Amino acid sequence: MSHASQTSQIPASIEAFLQQQQSQDLLRFITCGSVDDGKSSLIGRLLWESHQLFDDQLAALRSESRKHGTQGDNIDFALLVDGLTAEREQGITIDVAYRFFAVNTRKFIVADTPGHEQYTRNMITGASNADVAVLLIDARNGVMVQTRRHAYLVSLVGIRHVVLAINKMDLVDFSQSVYDSIAEEFTRFAQPLGFDSITPIPVSALKGDNITARSVHTPWYSGPTLMGYLETVRISPRNSGRFTFPVQWVNRPNSDFRGFAGTVTDGSIRRGDEIRVTASGQVACVQDIVTMDGSQESASVGEAVTLTLDREIDASRGDIMSAAQSPLETTDQFEAILVWMNEEAGLVGRSYDIKLSAQWATASITSIKHRINVNTLAHEASRKLELNDISVCNLSTSRPLAFDSYLQAPALGSFILVDRFNNATVAAGMIRHSLRRAQNVHRHSLTITRAEREHLNGHRGRVIWFTGLSGSGKSTLANALEVELHGKGYRTFILDGDNIRHGLNKDLGFTDEDRVENIRRIAEVARLMMEAGMIVMTSFISPFRREREMARELIGADDFIEVYVDTPLDVCEARDVKGLYRKARKGEIPNMTGINSPYEEPLNPELRISGQTEIQQALSPILDRIAGTDQ
Ligand code: ADX
Repeated sequence: MSHASQTSQIPASIEAFLQQQQSQDLLRFITCGSVDDGKSSLIGRLLWESHQLFDDQLAALRSESRKHGTQGDNIDFALLVDGLTAEREQGITIDVAYRFFAVNTRKFIVADTPGHEQYTRNMITGASNADVAVLLIDARNGVMVQTRRHAYLVSLVGIRHVVLAINKMDLVDFSQSVYDSIAEEFTRFAQPLGFDSITPIPVSALKGDNITARSVHTPWYSGPTLMGYLETVRISPRNSGRFTFPVQWVNRPNSDFRGFAGTVTDGSIRRGDEIRVTASGQVACVQDIVTMDGSQESASVGEAVTLTLDREIDASRGDIMSAAQSPLETTDQFEAILVWMNEEAGLVGRSYDIKLSAQWATASITSIKHRINVNTLAHEASRKLELNDISVCNLSTSRPLAFDSYLQAPALGSFILVDRFNNATVAAGMIRHSLRRAQNVHRHSLTITRAEREHLNGHRGRVIWFTGLSGSGKSTLANALEVELHGKGYRTFILDGDNIRHGLNKDLGFTDEDRVENIRRIAEVARLMMEAGMIVMTSFISPFRREREMARELIGADDFIEVYVDTPLDVCEARDVKGLYRKARKGEIPNMTGINSPYEEPLNPELRISGQTEIQQALSPILDRIAGTDQ
């Protein structure tokens, strides 16, 4: 799927290079802050001071600095990185840029992510395998909402060490009291986030103070320089050590060879080790571990390899293998932290695609437990997920997925939610734990089948889904259809908005989130009745395409007939059977469909019927359709 490529990854060639250099210690870190905080200058300065620039880059930088720089005759380090920022703003490259540099003892990978709030996804991508986060603060501005937000996100993705780079100290006369008060405010805020260490450092990325050399301007500061810190900070490995291997594809060039290709996401594997396929539970032993350069004895985290096994097993793209003795859990209901990244709000009950490791399924949010206020860290009640909200939610998926908690194994505990219509990534999520009910509630199989019920009725069960504006004529049509069908001996029932909202759905109003829940319940009830062998007619505005598609999927496309009762708004308004349009025009109804709440017309309904057609004439294509498909 096209959206699978949206997550930026470190190019394979560089990964391979880094792996060859494993004797040299590697530190991954992320910088958080906006361009205005001096992020570009800081990264440029680190590259410069570690002598990682080539001569031609240097010459170009010197001349660019003279032409476009903001630093007179001095080198403007920001120009080193800003080229990329500009590209990003033009939409040429997205998400995370990785940069590399090294000093004697260590190699570094810096994940550089754009600072704007709407780029949260990129920050999470960049942070998800970082060991350290460098949070930049402009000393003149102090701790900003964005600083708190970044700190919170950084803690969420499991980074344990934070550097607070209090930048532009030259612009506050290297004032110790400014530094102290920022460091103190941040440390107090971040205390509940439980970092292993918070290291404030007063710096000037532009002038180079406390970057590699200790600054003469901060005699009151006795801590490390930024580079000194990065070179020496001790980090513990973030993987759980248990072997996990999502199958990317099955490699079968000829009948003699069948290999499972993928990247080891955790732990390591040797020839002869026993593996288990999570979904089927099948086990086999690793016969060989093959790479582009031939076979090898073992493979560990980060390596892209092909595994061959000693026996035939069923595994395909999306399956996850683990060490046989430490199987992975599967779940279809879990609690997670969701970071909402879309303009359009996330709603309970709406379906999204979920991608967890290489697994795809359909997911919906079953409840929002609370939203986290990133300023105060307080838990707040919330009914929908707005752009940039960070919330704790329960989710359910259409099939069980292999998973682990994010803190145990980030690769198997993080996921994205994708809009099913436009493929946009709408949220990033981190699994906290499976819900116990996922393990304790099982389907019970019934002896009498749907086919037997239908046989007794003498016809198939089906759902005729009427949609259209209030007053378009849905209920009138459904009613007339039922009279016809009943007369012909069909078993029928009508689920009608105005009636159901007096009973089953009387707790629901007309906000977007309530309408989504309204339709979700109706789709479930309609399916049950259909499985009982009935022809069910539903008469609901059902204004959103996504929920009508959800109903179609739940019920099954073969049994679902969407009938769009297409009556122009002005006609419905002129009819105004219940006087609602008049009230809405007077401002007495805040979200009346067609007036101040949207109606999304069906794009491909099975039938489109003008609501101004004479009834018998309108019914005939529906009756034809039912008779035609009722084999
Ligand atoms: S839906 O949007 O959630 O599908 P539903 O079909 O159940 O709506 O209910 C629509 C009926 O509720 C309308 O026919 C109308 O009689 C009544 N109603 C009351 N308030 C509204 C409103 N704000 N928007 C639309 N219909 C409303």
